[in-house]
Amino acid sequence: MLKNRKIVLGVTGGIAAYKAAELTRLLIREGAQVRVVMTENAKAFITPLTMQTLSQGPVFADPYAATDQYDMAHISLAQWADAFVIAPATANIIGKAAAGIADDLLSTTIMAQDKPTLFCPAMNDKMLANPVVQDNLRKLIQFGYRIMQSATGELACKVTGSGRLPDPADIVEEIECILAPKDYQNVKILITAGPTQEPFDPVRFITNGSSGKMGYALAKAARRRGAAVTLISGPTSLNPPAAAHFIAVRTAQEMREAVMAHFPGQAVVIKAAAVSDYRPKTIEADKIKKDKGSSRLDLEQNPDILAELGRIKKNCVLVGFAMETRDLVKNAKSKMQKKNLDMIVANNLREDGAGFQTDTNIITLMDKNGSVTTLPKMTKIEAADQILNSARKFLKKKKTSR
Ligand code: CTP
Repeated sequence: MLKNRKIVLGVTGGIAAYKAAELTRLLIREGAQVRVVMTENAKAFITPLTMQTLSQGPVFADPYAATDQYDMAHISLAQWADAFVIAPATANIIGKAAAGIADDLLSTTIMAQDKPTLFCPAMNDKMLANPVVQDNLRKLIQFGYRIMQSATGELACKVTGSGRLPDPADIVEEIECILAPKDYQNVKILITAGPTQEPFDPVRFITNGSSGKMGYALAKAARRRGAAVTLISGPTSLNPPAAAHFIAVRTAQEMREAVMAHFPGQAVVIKAAAVSDYRPKTIEADKIKKDKGSSRLDLEQNPDILAELGRIKKNCVLVGFAMETRDLVKNAKSKMQKKNLDMIVANNLREDGAGFQTDTNIITLMDKNGSVTTLPKMTKIEAADQILNSARKFLKKKKTSR
């Protein structure tokens, strides 16, 4: 969560400097406060006015310019910031930071602070591969700076290779990771997400309206907090979150196999997937033709994956979801008990802003100790953090009871 977090964005002189504008916009949209420091060369690629307008604050460039608030800019900015991001970071700023050269406001400010600092290199592929640049990047890592891997693709010089500035949204996600509490550091979490599809011929299947957004938000939030995440997902249109071990499945049976294969060793399992309870008894090899088909579809029951986990779980914290349209608390409590869960997350499909396709959710958190907490409407990523906060209590208890 970047709300009210203070980010100093250092912009250096490369063609990707224009993407610093989008990065600033995204950071502001996430609620961060942004102060921009530009090098003289950066000003040749993007104007201070653009950065000032988007960051809603002054742009700093001249180390000798006294302003009302920042009479010694490099010291004040260093104290003010929660994190520093250098995007794009040219070979020049990387070299200067690695060698301890402080000859302008940005390099001086980098030197004068000890906050988490992320360099996002962007340059020509040959330049990036240059052993001197590579050596400087290694040095920066040794000094405790973070380096974001450049993206691969078409570069401004028309060659294809590594050296592109990563997508601004990915840089924002990296900053989220840097600033998130690390209370799940190296904790193994398995999350299921999305719907399942149960085919009855090569083109048709039974499914439900799950978008996967809640499960993917859980994977993202857990990864930010340091967890080792395995995400098993039915078909969705979402991009798998970075750094999660991602396994794509289609049917409930495939999901069961993947979950059982990856269950051993997990500290937490969160089953956010909307698993189809039934599947067609037979799958036709060819498309069923209108004139040959019948109006009947024979179904058989799918395995209840969560109930099976409840029977074998031992020390694992098991969290289920309950999607209801009535008697929310009563139905969810009964599912929690029947499936031997530590916690259940109940949501009512009928509530505005809750359920399948939305970016928000309204959840009631219930646990096996009888606690019932209904939370207000919030984004799915905020809801994911709340679920992780509650699950952590059981994780702690399990650890100390061993
Ligand atoms: N679940 C599962 N395997 C199934 C069905 C459900 O693992 N075959 C899990 C879901 O991932 C969810 C929880 O069980 O975490 C509850 O799912 P839900 O569909 O709300 O409940 P059901 O147990 O299927 O009961 P009902 O459909 O009767 O409400």
